[in-house]
Amino acid sequence: MPGSRVLLVVTGSVAAYKACEVLRRLQDRGVEVRVAMTKNAGKFVSPLTFAALSGHRVLVNSFDDERPERIPHVRWAEESDTFCVVPASADFIAKMALGIADDFPSTLHLAFDGPVLVAPAMEDQMWQHPAVQENVDKLRARGVAIVQPTIGPLASGRHGPGRLAEPLNVVDAIMEVLIMEPAKRPLAGMQVLVSAGPTREHFDPVRVLTNPSTGRMGYAVAEAAVRLGADVVLVSGPTQVAEPFEVEIIRVTNAEEMRCEMLAHAALADVVVMAAAVSDFRPVAPVPEKLKKAAGDTMSWKVERTPDILEELRQLRGNRTLVGFAAETSNLEARSREKLDRKGCDLIVANLVGTGGTGFEVETNEVVILDRLGGNVTAGPALKADIATSILDAILEFRQRLGIASPEKAG
Ligand code: CTP
Repeated sequence: MPGSRVLLVVTGSVAAYKACEVLRRLQDRGVEVRVAMTKNAGKFVSPLTFAALSGHRVLVNSFDDERPERIPHVRWAEESDTFCVVPASADFIAKMALGIADDFPSTLHLAFDGPVLVAPAMEDQMWQHPAVQENVDKLRARGVAIVQPTIGPLASGRHGPGRLAEPLNVVDAIMEVLIMEPAKRPLAGMQVLVSAGPTREHFDPVRVLTNPSTGRMGYAVAEAAVRLGADVVLVSGPTQVAEPFEVEIIRVTNAEEMRCEMLAHAALADVVVMAAAVSDFRPVAPVPEKLKKAAGDTMSWKVERTPDILEELRQLRGNRTLVGFAAETSNLEARSREKLDRKGCDLIVANLVGTGGTGFEVETNEVVILDRLGGNVTAGPALKADIATSILDAILEFRQRLGIASPEKAG
């Protein structure tokens, strides 16, 4: 399932290197993979290899991480659609069977409440040992998917059962588990259009009117929407944020370009989220050549209002849910409620800017989500990824209150 997140746990086995192939092939299918490793796994393949392949930090031990607040077990567990152990050693299977949590991967196992898959790999005598078979039976009885090891040459040179299933077969088994999880994809069948980042309005080829938006909040909304099953188009101003998987990204520079792309794509969208920090003004007469300082010590520029994209989008509304953002420096709720009415949005995500832990240039946010039916929920302080999920939950809840089903559910 494109946009799904797999938590891949690698444990100590010679077959650990095959987990790299599993990771790659999952990525080919649009799945995002995060890796946690046991200490012994790190003796076979370096965590650095998995970090480079996955594009995420790899966790071996939760207790010695420099920034533990960024990667709590609970968050990794909550954000993943499935927990897969590839390869699974006899020792790790025993820990899972008994519920032991003495390192990061085994703690994650207990913190995770979704579907679990285990692909064992070990020597034949170990695999056939009654203790291992009893543990595997226990996992099976709990609903864990077991990818049966195959018969073949083993690390010791012996030949027998216990060899890790072929990576492609492991990937197929993981994909089957992901497809069985529709409850976690409440946006399936929906088109979500998101704008993100600042816009730049040029005075001349090297000078711009802009703002400090990084785009992270809008990117987090796009990423969360994909994970929850939506088809997502992201219209992005200039940012340095990594491109999320399975999102169609359209890059723009100024407010007028953003306006054109948003209006063009809004026609097909069920939900439109204007998270971009659009510049409110632009120079009336930008010049094509770089301005020289020689003109004097002061300079005056005439600026004009940019088009208000949100206000134009409201004309298209229909069953579309239109979500704006409000960046305010004070009187957050009153000003945002006024903005919601003035701009004709269904929901508005209000956040204070300039207070340190929220708004521009920070990884966390704290917001109030208001809707036109009088609803009011707060989210955070939390990472922007978590805030994004709260925003999408609020949108779904609003649509349900209005009786608007997703196209898939409407059937
Ligand atoms: N917005 C827009 N087009 C603009 C300016 C803003 O679509 N030219 C959108 C933003 O993407 C955001 C919402 O309008 O979703 C509110 O933006 P904000 O800057 O908070 O408010 P303004 O409309 O600029 O109003 P004010 O300057 O009075 O706060």
